[in-house]
Amino acid sequence: MLKIVPSILAADFCRLGEDIDSAKEGDMLHFDVMDGDFVPNISFGIPVLRSVRAFTDMTLDVHLMIDDPVRYVELFAQAGADLISVHLEADTHQGIAGALDEMGRCGVKRAVALRPISAPEAILPYVDRLDMVLVMTVEPGFGGQKLIDSQLETVRRVRALLDKYNPGCDLEVDGGVTVQNAGRVKAAGANVLVAGSAIFGQKDRAAAIRALREA
Ligand code: DX5
Ligand code: ZN
Repeated sequence: MLKIVPSILAADFCRLGEDIDSAKEGDMLHFDVMDGDFVPNISFGIPVLRSVRAFTDMTLDVHLMIDDPVRYVELFAQAGADLISVHLEADTHQGIAGALDEMGRCGVKRAVALRPISAPEAILPYVDRLDMVLVMTVEPGFGGQKLIDSQLETVRRVRALLDKYNPGCDLEVDGGVTVQNAGRVKAAGANVLVAGSAIFGQKDRAAAIRALREA
């Protein structure tokens, strides 16, 4: 099933409630956590997630761009995450496996994320326990970048691995998704499209979400 997921990194944080409301036609809400170490930027974290959780019933898709994420899985789950993605580059195999176990224990959906440098096969040790794989189509850290076209090949290869080992698993693409390239992103095998600027950069967010859905 196709899901369009507004990323609040592109919202106006002084009007966060209004912005979330304007994007409620989305299938989930994407929440980018950055620690200034794993990525060269710092965004927002647990207290903000708690407020967002109290404000909306939307499914909260939490993308942890932080080192050693196992340390924070439980806290983000308690703050209201429904699904958590941890980066394969952010920890050892043991750390990633531990983070996924922790997600299971906390009752949140499990995802791993790949920076452009990671090979699709890096998901294999975890593939059977995943609810979603997130493929970055920009270098993580900032919204508003241009989609890296060569990452569509990674999307195709991840889709092929999922078809083989976990066909029910969602495949999310994050970074630089626009109405112009959404068709190609879907054709490559993604069924979950994150969009920050392409939604919050438009006056009519419902129309922007529809356009991405139909692209
Ligand atoms: C980037 C974030 C993305 C970001 C996407 O590090 O992970 O979720 O919000 O923003 P756009 O759609 O503007 O590229
Ligand atoms: Zn993200």
